[in-house]
Amino acid sequence: LFSAVEMAPRDPILGLNEQFAADTNPNKVNLGVGVYFDENGKLPLLQCVQQAEKAMMDKPAARGYLPIDGIAAYDNAVKGLVFGADSEPVKAGRVATVQALGGTGGLKIGADFLKRLNPKAKVLISDPSWENHRALFTNAGFEVGTYAYYDAAKRGVNFEGMLASLRAAEAGTIVVLHACCHNPTGYDITPAQWDQVVAVVKERGLTAFLDMAYQGFGHGIAEDGAVIGKFVAAGLLFLVSTSFSKSFSLYGERVGGLSVLCADKAEADRVLSQLKIVIRTNYSNPPTHGGAVVAAVLNNPELRALWEKELGEMRVRIKAMRQKLVDGLKAAGVKQDMGFITDQIGMFSYSGLSKDQMVRLRTEFGVYGTDTGRMCVAALNGKNIDHVCKSIAAVL
Ligand code: LMR
Repeated sequence: LFSAVEMAPRDPILGLNEQFAADTNPNKVNLGVGVYFDENGKLPLLQCVQQAEKAMMDKPAARGYLPIDGIAAYDNAVKGLVFGADSEPVKAGRVATVQALGGTGGLKIGADFLKRLNPKAKVLISDPSWENHRALFTNAGFEVGTYAYYDAAKRGVNFEGMLASLRAAEAGTIVVLHACCHNPTGYDITPAQWDQVVAVVKERGLTAFLDMAYQGFGHGIAEDGAVIGKFVAAGLLFLVSTSFSKSFSLYGERVGGLSVLCADKAEADRVLSQLKIVIRTNYSNPPTHGGAVVAAVLNNPELRALWEKELGEMRVRIKAMRQKLVDGLKAAGVKQDMGFITDQIGMFSYSGLSKDQMVRLRTEFGVYGTDTGRMCVAALNGKNIDHVCKSIAAVL
């Protein structure tokens, strides 16, 4: 029955974890996957999460099925975080939000919903984009193209190219935009440039699908989410996928969401009913624990303040590591100006290293990044940075 099944290639990001786990190099450093590790190289278990879990354990609860769209208090907290609790869309009840299996789950629910709604639509992702965007939308049945984004020579965004690609797109095209902390490049467009993108999306009748997996890792929670308000103010209807994997350090809980902004409450109710069918026919309903923890934190003023503080500390430490990387590379003898690393934002640095250099980094030095040259600077610390800098200097 399965004799004709071919071996699939390893996942370009998560596949690196498997390789890393098998590597016996004592100096190995995993800068492959987008995961934050603290100064001691440990995956943090946030204090706000521990406190919420402790309170939950003091009042143990049985685990019944959740509603198909998840915990209501969680969905409401997501709406508040994404649109603002007192925002007009939330107050008018015109946002349909569902709990999803991480940000990836939110994207997939949205992709399946859009495929049923508009089967002929094309999808545009940024060039380059998170590796899984193309695979996910292709597997949902879409033809996936790209819009210009990264300018390697300039080390930044080819904004004119981006606008031109969007202007050339057919009406109804689904445009996947990174709300903040662009993955993989680390280069975001400015608020003024966002205004222009919003205007083109409106003018051309495009469908924006914002991927906001890194809210809080750029400039702050509100600052990173500000782009959502721009789309709302323009009167657009759109989708947003969100994730608490990184911002709550709850990677394994698969806790994310999909929010769809609709014209009015009746439309949002109808959209929600369709999202529920997508969920029911894929995995029935979401798991309980991660959503309950996030809801407990976001809906409790003290825990929420603690979360904001802890997320802020992660953001500040990543920025400090960017500077240390620039300084360390210089000290290790790298002649070229690596200052661009501090212009980038979020968890990633697009290093400009070639595939061959990335493979050498991995095989000779145990330093893991993706073949495209992406490195997760959120996994650097005082102990591993020297080895990383010397290794990069060696392959450069
Ligand atoms: C990444 O880009 O490394 C993360 O978003 C993890 C993943 O699922 O790929």
